[in-house]
Amino acid sequence: MISLLFPGSFDPFTRGHRDIARRASKICDKLYVACMNNSKKHYSFSLEERISMTKISLSEYDNIEVIGSDGLLVDIFKDLGCNAVVRGIRSESDFRYEAEMAMANRMLYPAYDVTLLPCRDDLSLISSSIVKEVASYGGDISRMVPSQIVEQVTDRLRKDGN
Ligand code: COA
Repeated sequence: MISLLFPGSFDPFTRGHRDIARRASKICDKLYVACMNNSKKHYSFSLEERISMTKISLSEYDNIEVIGSDGLLVDIFKDLGCNAVVRGIRSESDFRYEAEMAMANRMLYPAYDVTLLPCRDDLSLISSSIVKEVASYGGDISRMVPSQIVEQVTDRLRKDGN
């Protein structure tokens, strides 16, 4: 059985993330999507909110399980016994960042491995930051995030103004 792990901040989960999850789920038996924390980021949504929105966005996929962790990526990778991590890359700079992260993770756990999926062209300019910027001004984010979470993201960010 092949299992893959797709980790990210998902603050919030976007259509770009969903496309990577959908494609990754086709090349394995089980895909774990893990909402995690990047210590360099300040989040607009709590870990629980990010998990809940990610779950709703992926509810139609039978072989995808959404989990959350505020620990190290290698620890859940090891605990779940996954074959590899999956990450989406949008650009050359994403590739460099992924190569650095993979090297660090391999130092922590030599059996760690990662597979990179190039993003779809039409989704390559979406990022969680852009979604937050547009939503905070009351703009239409319906083409950026899965339909199931458009309202929640819009209401929350417009109210908070962040
Ligand atoms: N489509 C659209 N956007 C995408 C995307 C895709 N396919 N893939 C990534 N992005 C965007 C995200 O929206 C996000 O945008 P933002 O910077 O505006 O928020 C950005 O690219 C990268 O975010 P994400 O993919 O969620 O990763 P991250 O860099 O925030 O987090 C973790 C990466 C959580 C996996 C990493 O920090 C981690 O492993 N944390 C656990 C602690 C740990 O083990 N640290 C050591 C790591 S060496």
